Amino acid sequence: MVRIGIIGVGGIANGRHIPEIQKSSGGKITAICDINEKALKATGDKLGIPEHLRFTDYRDLIASDEVDAVEICTPNHLHVPMAVDAVKAGKPVNVEKPLSVNLDKAQPLKAALEENPVPNMMCFTYRFMPAVRYAKEIMKKGLLGDIISVNVEYLKSSAFIEGRRLEWRFIKEYAGTGVLGDLGVHLIDMAEFLIGDMKKVSAKTGIIVKERKKLDSEEIAPVETDDYCNFLAEFENGAAGVFTVTRCALGHGNTIKYDIYGTEGVISFNLNNPDILNVCIGDIDRECESMHTVSVPSKYRITQEQMFINMAEGKDCPYLPTVKDGLRSQKILDSLLKSSEENRWIEL
Ligand SMILES: NC(=O)c1ccc[n+]([C@@H]2O[C@H](COP(=O)([O-])OP(=O)(O)OC[C@H]3O[C@@H](n4cnc5c(N)ncnc54)[C@H](O)[C@@H]3O)[C@@H](O)[C@H]2O)c1
Repeated sequence: MVRIGIIGVGGIANGRHIPEIQKSSGGKITAICDINEKALKATGDKLGIPEHLRFTDYRDLIASDEVDAVEICTPNHLHVPMAVDAVKAGKPVNVEKPLSVNLDKAQPLKAALEENPVPNMMCFTYRFMPAVRYAKEIMKKGLLGDIISVNVEYLKSSAFIEGRRLEWRFIKEYAGTGVLGDLGVHLIDMAEFLIGDMKKVSAKTGIIVKERKKLDSEEIAPVETDDYCNFLAEFENGAAGVFTVTRCALGHGNTIKYDIYGTEGVISFNLNNPDILNVCIGDIDRECESMHTVSVPSKYRITQEQMFINMAEGKDCPYLPTVKDGLRSQKILDSLLKSSEENRWIEL
């Protein structure tokens, strides 16, 4: 049984990590950590964690001999220092995305893993969606031919939530990027996972809701991170990508659309329904100029947290996203911001 310690028990820990671990086999949450005493108590009580395994200093959780593996679910600027400590302690680690606030700040984790290569994973959650894993298999078989282009949209309206305050996501020091690191990084990881490495990017980012009230007072302060990013990408294999990432799309709670066009076929999915793919593959679809819908076979189902437990147990983990992928996508995030600032293509 892998005994798991979770650092940061806010939105994503309670929304995904904890429920998925509870439904997984082979793992158990034994310890939690948060600097927010209220959050620590609420999650600790919910899970029945004994007082001596509820920590306010993450170093104590990592050092605990009742923790075998560590999950890091804190704001972005804390991922790397916390993961470095877990790696130095020799404990398998799962790091939330994006890896860091910029590539420079991520280097200590790269160095720590070079010295002590413990099993490590990045929470590129959408790699675990059945539609994405099945798309990968179809593409590996070459059924789409050469990839010509990919059209991707990640649409949310969360910037317009009434009364939303200046939480850490809107402050550069803590978040690094805005919608890019929050949502765009998933699309970037998925694109390189499915299509291959990007070669260069050209982006336009912007802030729509320019100021917000601070979390703890009525004082108004500027939003410092991007609300939207539209970008073009050219892939090493010649494919072209068009990406729209925004938290300002009214009418969309969380819409992720992917269309991949090849010389022999097309795959299209919408992760609001991750169990189906729309495809145009084969002579009949081509002749009828139509797409048809397929249900993803159940063997393509695995959750992120089951994969983490499998990794910590030393099992085979196909398509595991690792810190190496986190470093790569961080480089692309930095390049997108640079491209927008300097109004030019950036070679990767
Ligand atoms: N994979 C995904 O799909 C996905 C979705 C949402 C969020 N995330 C990522 O998860 C991370 C957390 O996001 P969230 O929405 O849960 O944020 P959140 O603000 O809801 O939760 C963060 C928690 O970390 C705690 N924390 C802050 N500093 C700490 C410290 N020094 N030690 C211990 N705990 C500390 C906070 O008190 C809070 O409870 C972010 O990096 C975010 O990008 C990933």
